Amino acid sequence: MKIALDVNGTRREADVWAGESLLFALRERLGLPGSKNACEQGECGSCSVLLDGTLVCACLVLAAQADGHEVVTVEGLAPDGALNPVQEAFVRTGAVQCGFCTPGLVVAATDLLAQTPSPSEDEIREALSGNLCRCTGYQKIFEAVRAAATA
Ligand code: FES
Ligand code: FES
Repeated sequence: MKIALDVNGTRREADVWAGESLLFALRERLGLPGSKNACEQGECGSCSVLLDGTLVCACLVLAAQADGHEVVTVEGLAPDGALNPVQEAFVRTGAVQCGFCTPGLVVAATDLLAQTPSPSEDEIREALSGNLCRCTGYQKIFEAVRAAATA
């Protein structure tokens, strides 16, 4: 089936099968590998994107459900190659190790700061609770979000 969606501000079309995930369509059909595929079960958050402004796991959304809707991926947060404040803070604070979790965390943290510009420690932890990182121990990630909030 054909779908048409707005991805990072550009109308894109794709030919997908009925059971295909939005994550697969973004990565394999639309050439946007920023959203990572780790668990494919909604557990890790590495595939986090915004669907009509709502944070979702792209592995749990059917591509067909995104037909006619608006998607923002991590690529859309730095459209001209300039890092957004969250990305800059992740680099500056050393919140990236293997980097596999980073795109999802950046999308989730950017969404948090868009809604809550000065989040409390609890709000940061709650907002990122769906994003797993196996490398950093999270402290540098929380530090990066705090830094981005004050930037
Ligand atoms: S790949 Fe989607 S939540 Fe893990
Ligand atoms: S930096 Fe490796 S999983 Fe987070």
